[in-house]
Amino acid sequence: MDSPTLQALLTRRFNRRRLLGGSVELAALTLVASAGYRQTSAASQIRFPRVAASKSDAVIVPDGYRADVVLRWGDPLFANSTALDPRAVAEGALLAPGAAAAQEGQFGYNCDGIGLFTLDEQRCLLCVNHEFPTAALLFPGWVEAREARMLGAFVRDQPSAVAYMQAAVGLSVVELERDSRWRYRAGSRYNRRVTARTAIEISGPARAHPLLNPRGIAAPQALGTFGNCAAGSTPWMTYLTAEENVDDYFGNGAAPKVDAALELAHRRFGFRQRDSAYRWEYADARFDSAVNPAESLKFGWIVELDPFAPERAPKKRTALGRFKHEGATTVLAADGRAVVYMGDDQQFEYFYKFVSRARVDSDRPEANRDLLDDGTLYVARLFDDGRGEWLPLVHGAHPELTAERGFASQADVVLRCREAADRLGATPLDRPEDVAVNPQSGNVYLSCTQNLNRDGGVVAVGGRTLDTRTDRASPRAPNVSGHILEFIERGADAGATSFRWEIFVLAGAPNGTQLLAALPPDHATSLAAEVTYYGGATDSERLSGFANPDNLGFDGDGNLWIVTDGNQPGDNNDGCFVCPTEGPERGHVRQFMSGPVGAEICGCEFAPGGASLFLTIMHPGEAGSATSPQSHWPDGGEMAPRPSVVAIETTDPTRKFGS
Ligand code: FEO
Ligand code: CA
Ligand code: CA
Repeated sequence: MDSPTLQALLTRRFNRRRLLGGSVELAALTLVASAGYRQTSAASQIRFPRVAASKSDAVIVPDGYRADVVLRWGDPLFANSTALDPRAVAEGALLAPGAAAAQEGQFGYNCDGIGLFTLDEQRCLLCVNHEFPTAALLFPGWVEAREARMLGAFVRDQPSAVAYMQAAVGLSVVELERDSRWRYRAGSRYNRRVTARTAIEISGPARAHPLLNPRGIAAPQALGTFGNCAAGSTPWMTYLTAEENVDDYFGNGAAPKVDAALELAHRRFGFRQRDSAYRWEYADARFDSAVNPAESLKFGWIVELDPFAPERAPKKRTALGRFKHEGATTVLAADGRAVVYMGDDQQFEYFYKFVSRARVDSDRPEANRDLLDDGTLYVARLFDDGRGEWLPLVHGAHPELTAERGFASQADVVLRCREAADRLGATPLDRPEDVAVNPQSGNVYLSCTQNLNRDGGVVAVGGRTLDTRTDRASPRAPNVSGHILEFIERGADAGATSFRWEIFVLAGAPNGTQLLAALPPDHATSLAAEVTYYGGATDSERLSGFANPDNLGFDGDGNLWIVTDGNQPGDNNDGCFVCPTEGPERGHVRQFMSGPVGAEICGCEFAPGGASLFLTIMHPGEAGSATSPQSHWPDGGEMAPRPSVVAIETTDPTRKFGS
């Protein structure tokens, strides 16, 4: 967590109250960048008793820790809001008139990426996005209609399902206060819902793109945000949320082929040719690409929201490119510019970073309001010798990114970001997801969740010739369990244009001979799916095996916190894990928490001060249905499962988190 030295240095640099409230991660990173701070690795502080992998329908934390449910799907946020009755879900209450309007006043569904911002010593603002609706758990009959291939008819007959789902996604801003534990404050003036229908400004280079803004209006808007995955906070105290699987929401993607510019804009995103996943197009023509072929281009961006200004519209920051954004992790370059690291979560997609043109103004937060509209977007190329470079995705800066080669402007480059990255020779990775930066070393960690199609030869897909063979950065075929890459920016400067990289962990069950103490020098040739590597750790008995790393976080001591999404060793539930990244305990992963049945664990951020770890629990009971739930977490009994936010603390306040 934070040390007095770090806090003292931080206070000198960011002397405004709002900036003081930043997350430990960002606060400490400021110091890495600005003061050249680097701590030699100390002995690991992680001493909590390991949690055993579990199949229980519960949140399990180590002895000496307590997990409090802070917010549940359906909790009322405003003075006039009603509370969800979880007993009524199985009876179809969410299809009834008024259910969508009620959800607009409640905490949304499937909470994922979070940001925490200090108001004062006892209060903070929690920003949480709501990734997607698990319709099977919301509506009786959905599973049966899906099995009968009648989902379109289900939605056409019950359009209230779409209105409900549109109200349940987006994001929430909620004030929290702490007495003996964290609680949320219903009716706070900061509380806010953004849904699939909320007006959001489009800013940055693509705001003038003819496909997004055909009439050339001054302040184009998008309606809503959805498919948001991991997230991030900025040093100027705004929340960044990342639009990821937006292709799940639009139907009839074959239609845009009638127009060459539209076809190019759609080609590398992989929209569904016919029905969408949630069938919104059956009730809302905005999501029918045959009717509104350019609507989907307004999604797949990073959205910035100021939680301290409830009246201000969020903005889609198009300078950060359009792809399946997993998250947005912001740190400062050595010269004070903002650097945002971003994964594109699909197999064989890329790792990006954006570097702002201007420096972050630590004295005037308002001066940073549109900082993310102007800067350089880069994509990573990883060489097999362990070097790497950041390739600028800048119109005219490379012969491939010119009008002669089909990119009319920077607006075109950011809109067709994946294609631009293809042209520059970026390195395809195994579902690059969340990013976290070690506050002590400045090293950057990237989850590569999985890629079952690694080593499928050379294929033509989405207008791209793709070499799927293994390389040193993605050495397992197939990559069932995922891995974590470690990047060392040149000079430990996030603004650098070159880096070194290595594999930190090849996840999976770390059994016997399948646990490598070191990676073979020639590991560009495929490793078997079962081979694991835990940062050099050799004693499998001391390791908690995990798979499919997704969201990442750091504590102030430089320990990496990892939460998982699916397919854990032994078919156990997803959980939260932690390991040091430096010193003799490097790679010694310990399980800290086990989640409920069918739940993916997300969030993974420390509250300011470092004494509380916030996790989000997505889709408990995912494989069940509204009438036949497989989880009853957190309310128990016969209640419907509810995605929720939990805060974990030690039961002994004198004891340091993690010890
Ligand atoms: Fe929404 Fe990349 O997990
Ligand atoms: Ca994720
Ligand atoms: Ca995920």
